Amino acid sequence: MKTKITEMFGIQHPIIQGGMHYVGFAEMAAAVSNAGGLGIITALTQKTPADLANEIARCKDMTDKPFGVNITFLPSLTPPDYPAIVKAVIEGGVKVVETAGRNPEQVLPALKDAGIKVIHKCTSVRHSLKAQAIGCDAVSVDGFECGGHPGEDDVPNFILLPRAADELEIPFVSSGGMADGRSLVAAIAMGAEGMNMGTRFIATKEAPVHENVKQAIVAASELDTRLVMRPLRNTERVMNNAGVERLLEKEAALGDKLTIQDILPEVAGVYPKIMQEGYMDAGAWSCGMVAGLIYDVPTCKELIDRIMTQAEEIISARMMGMLDAKVSV
Ligand SMILES: Cc1cc2nc3c(=O)[nH]c(=O)nc-3n(C[C@H](O)[C@H](O)[C@H](O)COP(=O)(O)O)c2cc1C
Repeated sequence: MKTKITEMFGIQHPIIQGGMHYVGFAEMAAAVSNAGGLGIITALTQKTPADLANEIARCKDMTDKPFGVNITFLPSLTPPDYPAIVKAVIEGGVKVVETAGRNPEQVLPALKDAGIKVIHKCTSVRHSLKAQAIGCDAVSVDGFECGGHPGEDDVPNFILLPRAADELEIPFVSSGGMADGRSLVAAIAMGAEGMNMGTRFIATKEAPVHENVKQAIVAASELDTRLVMRPLRNTERVMNNAGVERLLEKEAALGDKLTIQDILPEVAGVYPKIMQEGYMDAGAWSCGMVAGLIYDVPTCKELIDRIMTQAEEIISARMMGMLDAKVSV
């Protein structure tokens, strides 16, 4: 399948693995890229820009295919050293950057000067248009279903994607709730040039996370995520667990008096405990509603091949069959 996104990023299949904290290590990105998609290393999971440079080098040892780096801008008391992160990305010879969290204007000139393609992930048409206006090459349109930060507008992809198609000139991929060939065909039908998946890629053999995380995703249904930090306007969709229940009780009890300090035990330093040690009740970790569509733990290649086969069958057999059908009355 050839789309504007496969052409832009030089990849075989229009499937991207979104940046994921404590998941997007070199092993994850290389596995997705080797399977013909675009794997992405998560910059902020690396403790220093030097560690990021090392992670990029490790990924290059594992794949000769294109891969990307995610640079997330989040509210932070001590902001990461973004210029040094950008320098590591450029010097590492990375060709694609996924930005997210906030307008990436501060890093764009350096990335563009280095010939790097920038895909900005955002959750609204207005932010997509802003990304286009400041010179991003593509957008990842992240619907309300998504794991992680869905923003505060709560618009699901069945509305958001066609709205993006009506307004945007640059290509976009759909993100949030994407799992299989049906997701890909539906996204393309709504104007996308491919799809971005987070949660689905965690439940793969190569994902460098604890087995408990993969099994929790397989066991979860579409009803098992919760929205936390709404009162702080930093909404995150997470897998429900005992830590999340505690967090939600605090939110309910404190109302608009809630501060980040009140919920630090449930949100700070949680990722290594969950992703690496497998303590599944440690606190809030991002997970999409798409968990309800995830039934197994394949390799990235099995997953991507299956998605592409299913997408082709839907288009060529089901859809074309409908057009060809002679309906008798
Ligand atoms: C465990 C986890 C961690 C994530 N961490 C980040 C992150 O650090 N930066 C980012 O831009 N997006 C992050 N995301 C969002 C994903 O890149 C992607 O946009 C999202 O998962 C898409 O929704 P889906 O899970 O329904 O596929 C994370 C998602 C998950 C599930």
